[in-house]
Amino acid sequence: MTTTISPLIAGNWKMNGTRASLDELTALAGMLTTGEAPRALVVICPPATILAAVARQGASAGIQAGGQDCHPAASGAHTGDLAAGMLADAGAQYVIVGHSERRANHAETDDLVRLKAEAAIGAGLKPIICVGETEAQRDSGQAETIVAGQLAGSIPDAASQHEVIVAYEPVWAIGTGRTPTNDDIAKMHASIRHKLVERFGDKGATVRILYGGSLKPQNAREILQVENVNGGLVGGASLLAKDFYTIISAV
Ligand code: PGA
Repeated sequence: MTTTISPLIAGNWKMNGTRASLDELTALAGMLTTGEAPRALVVICPPATILAAVARQGASAGIQAGGQDCHPAASGAHTGDLAAGMLADAGAQYVIVGHSERRANHAETDDLVRLKAEAAIGAGLKPIICVGETEAQRDSGQAETIVAGQLAGSIPDAASQHEVIVAYEPVWAIGTGRTPTNDDIAKMHASIRHKLVERFGDKGATVRILYGGSLKPQNAREILQVENVNGGLVGGASLLAKDFYTIISAV
């Protein structure tokens, strides 16, 4: 079945950015509004401290905002955490959940990631649910099995009714400058698509599957045209407006 899925390019600023970084946003907005109209939806997930500013300033250029994580609860005694509803209140429309840095640094399990995705949906956000294997898992031939397990555990049943986005990010490709071959990306994305359709039927055929991990101006064009790659989740290369714009334009 061929389904047309409009591509989405999301920038994950991680723990980078202060109010001074809003200059990059202004620069990106300028490029997006003066150049050829982008063929992709554009999302920036900045640190929470400047989320509201990004949402406000990006809007006129069609740039949407997202959080980088949320707590599964709607409110309560969770010092330092942010509820999905708070991100929505700050102007977010998306939230990344289950990024491998959170899975590794904060011991987040598939169950917790699923609860976060449910909370996001409950708050009217679109969760960007991250999955991906480590290098050792790939080397031992387990990559597809690991990712299938993460998909099964991290995507809530509510995805049959609400929009969710999946981001395939091989852990060993994040921030390393290394990427899988296009064939490997195609194989993994086909396998993810198969799992989504198996579980969610026609709805699974419409879920965006983003590729993430060292996506750069130099490799964006070829990676973004791989079958079942419906956009990208970009870390380092999203921090500079010029680089991020080049990636957006590669769609
Ligand atoms: P990278 O990060 O583009 O810097 O590899 C991607 C991500 O972690 O989302």
